[in-house]
Amino acid sequence: MTTATVPGIAIQRVDRSRLPELDFATLGFGTVYSDHMLTADYAGGRWGEPALVPFGPLPLSPATAALHYGQSVFEGLKAHRAPGGEVLLFRPDENARRFRRSAERMAMPPVPEAVFVEGLRELVRLDAGWVPPAGGGALYIRPLLFATDPSLRVRPAEGYRLVVFTFPFGAYFPPTIDALVSPTHVRAFPGGTGDVKPAGNYGAGLVAEAAARAEGCDTVLWLDGWEHRYVEECGVMNLFVVLGDVVVTPPLGGTILGGVTRDSVLTLLRDAGHRVEERRLAIDEVVAAHREGRLRECFGTGTAATLAHVRRLRYDGADLLLPPVEARTVGPAVKERLIAIMSGRAPDPYGWLLRL
Ligand SMILES: Cc1ncc(COP(=O)(O)O)c(C=O)c1O
Repeated sequence: MTTATVPGIAIQRVDRSRLPELDFATLGFGTVYSDHMLTADYAGGRWGEPALVPFGPLPLSPATAALHYGQSVFEGLKAHRAPGGEVLLFRPDENARRFRRSAERMAMPPVPEAVFVEGLRELVRLDAGWVPPAGGGALYIRPLLFATDPSLRVRPAEGYRLVVFTFPFGAYFPPTIDALVSPTHVRAFPGGTGDVKPAGNYGAGLVAEAAARAEGCDTVLWLDGWEHRYVEECGVMNLFVVLGDVVVTPPLGGTILGGVTRDSVLTLLRDAGHRVEERRLAIDEVVAAHREGRLRECFGTGTAATLAHVRRLRYDGADLLLPPVEARTVGPAVKERLIAIMSGRAPDPYGWLLRL
């Protein structure tokens, strides 16, 4: 469909960097954006050359198709600074592939994977000063693709824009989370879009997240959308449960997002000798395991948090309290190992890192 390559991306630099005003110690998540962004436009059946330009607002027609009919997909990945100062991207090729699948599912032209990887490599290189110091957080990278046609006809648009921008963030995630098993809402269903990342998946989940907070929880534990019986994901993270000495995670089958962190955690767990099962897991089985004292751990995995330990599951008006994190042996160890690889503190035997 397109042959756009990246032989030296055109760069328009900011007149004055905002970096000197940045305090890495007090950063939230997505509050201060780095100086530049990558953009590329799709028109006339092909991708134009990408460019690096100052981060800033986009002029949009009120009729912009993405705003009305939701042709908008995104990605999320991170760059870390290694102890020696080098900047490391974690598995960007996986995000490139998932971005392609998301675009295809939403009838959008995929961004060539080489453009995606090379483009964001050049972007991070240009704004390398925005990557927090080693051990002090990471640079989050947000690729976005949306339909730009100023047209209200319900059909795949003809024009699209790719925008990639970044922001530094610190250790903002709480050490443990509480999750409400949503009694009513579902995130995904067979034939839907649960296994890709269109914007609408996230807007549709917000009311359930608000309901979880109203019950004193941090997020939602999603059950399947067909029988409302099997556990699927935890907020915007993949879900792992430790039953006795077996680690269980729901299988990818069209309704679960194939997380890059999930895949990495599965590899590390297997290589550490854990018994791991990718299988359907009914909420009743989780409740029974808790009653029998076999529910050892529960955690979510995703780029932003890496791994978040679940402290409490709230289901059907009752609380299932899990053992304290200090007593856990699986989640804390795999989290430490994964972060050590991502941030260049440990060797990378899997070839997961792209060095800038
Ligand atoms: C619904 C959902 N599940 C799981 C994940 C975790 O995916 P990853 O590990 O690639 O960040 C994400 C984040 O992208 C997500 O949005």
